[in-house]
Amino acid sequence: MSSPSTVRFLTGITTTGTPHLGNYVGAIRPAVQASRRAGTENFYFLADYHALIKCDEPARIQRSTLEIAACWLAAGLDADKVFFYRQSDIPEIPELTWLLTCVTGKGVLNRAHAYKASVDKNTAAGNDPDADVTAGLFMYPVLMAADILMFKAHKIPVGRDQVQHIEMARDMAQSFNHLYGEHFVLPEAAVDESVAMLPGLDGRKMSKSYDNIIPLFAPPAQIRKQIAGIVTDSRAPGEPKEVEGSALFQIYQAFASPQESDALRKAYAEGIAWGDAKQWLFERIDREIAPMRERYEALAGNPAELEKILQHGAEKARARSAPFMAELRHAVGLRNLGTGAGAGKKEKAARAALPVFKQYREADGKFYFRLLDVDGAELMQSAGFESPKEAGQLIAQLKQGDTAALKQVAAWWRSARNPAEVMQAFAEMGN
Ligand code: TRP
Repeated sequence: MSSPSTVRFLTGITTTGTPHLGNYVGAIRPAVQASRRAGTENFYFLADYHALIKCDEPARIQRSTLEIAACWLAAGLDADKVFFYRQSDIPEIPELTWLLTCVTGKGVLNRAHAYKASVDKNTAAGNDPDADVTAGLFMYPVLMAADILMFKAHKIPVGRDQVQHIEMARDMAQSFNHLYGEHFVLPEAAVDESVAMLPGLDGRKMSKSYDNIIPLFAPPAQIRKQIAGIVTDSRAPGEPKEVEGSALFQIYQAFASPQESDALRKAYAEGIAWGDAKQWLFERIDREIAPMRERYEALAGNPAELEKILQHGAEKARARSAPFMAELRHAVGLRNLGTGAGAGKKEKAARAALPVFKQYREADGKFYFRLLDVDGAELMQSAGFESPKEAGQLIAQLKQGDTAALKQVAAWWRSARNPAEVMQAFAEMGN
C-alpha cells in the first residue's frame, strides 16, 4: 500500500521503434535513476495501444515491445520495485477511456497538436481536412489520460511536445470529478530541462523520423561505423575546433563526467583530428553500454522470461486498476441492480462534494437563498431580495470570493448554525 505522501510518477513508451541513444539519454536513464528515489511509486509501461495509432505492422509492434522491455530492464529498471507493464494487459484502461470520452468536449480534441498538425497538413495540400486521419489519432489524448488517471499519478515526466496532453488529462479529471465526485488526482507534467536533448548523426534531434539514430544495443562494430558518420566540419587535424554546435561534442557530453568533457574541450582547442575524437566518443559510449548489452541480449533472446516479467507487472498494476475501475463504474451509475438501486437526492448533493446555494421564493413574495452543505443540511439563510436576479448576482460574487459580497452577507452567516462552516464553504467554492 502507498502512504498518503507517496508521489507517483508515470510514463509510457510507444512501442513502434528500436530504442536508440536519444531514448536512453532523454528517457530511460533519467527514469531508471528516478525510480530509485525514496517516497515515490513509479509506473512505466509499454504503450502498445498507442502504437496501433501509428503503426499497422503487427510484427513490428511485437518486436518493438520486446526490444523496449528488454532495454529498460537491461538499463537497470527493477521490475520488483516499480510497476512495469504493458498497456494492453490492463483492460481497465480502454474501459476508462470510454468514461473519459464521455466527459471530454469534441472541440477540446480538435485542438490537440497531433490531430491539428494532420488537419493543417491536409488543408495546406488542398485535401479534405480529415483525409487519412483515424479516429484513433483523434482520441489519442483520451487514451493517454486514461493511462495517467487510472493510477492516480501526480507527475508525468515527458518531453515538451507532450505537455498539452497532460493538461488535457488534467481537464478531463476535473470535469469527471466535478460531475461524479473527487475520484481522480490531477496530474502535472514534469519536463526536466536538465536532461540533454541528444543530437543525431546529422546534428538535428536524434529521432526515428529523421533517420539519424544510433541504436542503443547494436553490435559495437555497427555503433563504431555510425559514429564515424556523425557530421563534422572540414577542419584538418591540428586545426583548433569548436565545441559550440558540434554534435559529436554534445553526444560525448551526455555520457561523460564534467572532467571528461573538459578534457575533450581542451583536445578540440588543441586540434584533435575528427577521427580521433570519434574514437573517444565510441569508447566512452561503449564503456556505459557494454555492461548492459549482455543483459539485453539475454533478455531479448528469452521472450518467455520477458513475458513472465510483464505478466507479473500486469498483476501488480491490476491490483490497483481493477478496484479503482469498480469505484468509477459505480460513480457513473454502471451498477449492480441488486444493490442500492435508485439512489436519491442526497447522492446528488454529495457527489459534487461541494456546498451548494439554493434559491427560492417565500410567501412574502421576496427571493431568498440558502447555503446547503454536501449532505443537504442548511448552513445559512439570506435575507429577502426584491428580484431573483439580485440574489443570483450576490451568489455569483460569493462563489468568486468577492470581499464586498462576503462583507454584505457576514451578518447572516454570523447568525447561522455554524459560522465557521459557512466560511469554510465559501473558501471551498472559491477555488
Ligand atoms: N504519448 C507518449 C509519447 O508519444 C506516450 C504515452 C502514452 C505516455 N501514454 C502515456 C506518456 C502516458 C506519458 C503518460 O511519448
